[in-house]
Amino acid sequence: MVRRHALLAAGLPAPYSCREGACSACCCRVVEGEVELSRNEALDGADLVEGYILACQALRRGEDRVRITYEG
Ligand code: FES
Repeated sequence: MVRRHALLAAGLPAPYSCREGACSACCCRVVEGEVELSRNEALDGADLVEGYILACQALRRGEDRVRITYEG
């Protein structure tokens, strides 16, 4: 199932391809807040520990603001 991508819905030029958690084209890093991934077939445990996420599969945890970056 292709999920709604909040960044694209907001008109931002976020990178993506599959939108199914499989390709990592949407990979970015969380710099503030917490998210959980509804699906992840692209990132390994080390990536996740470093804060990398798949923007197309990220759901905000709680009510706190989430900030991400596409820079390394
Ligand atoms: S666009 Fe492919 S994993 Fe997000």
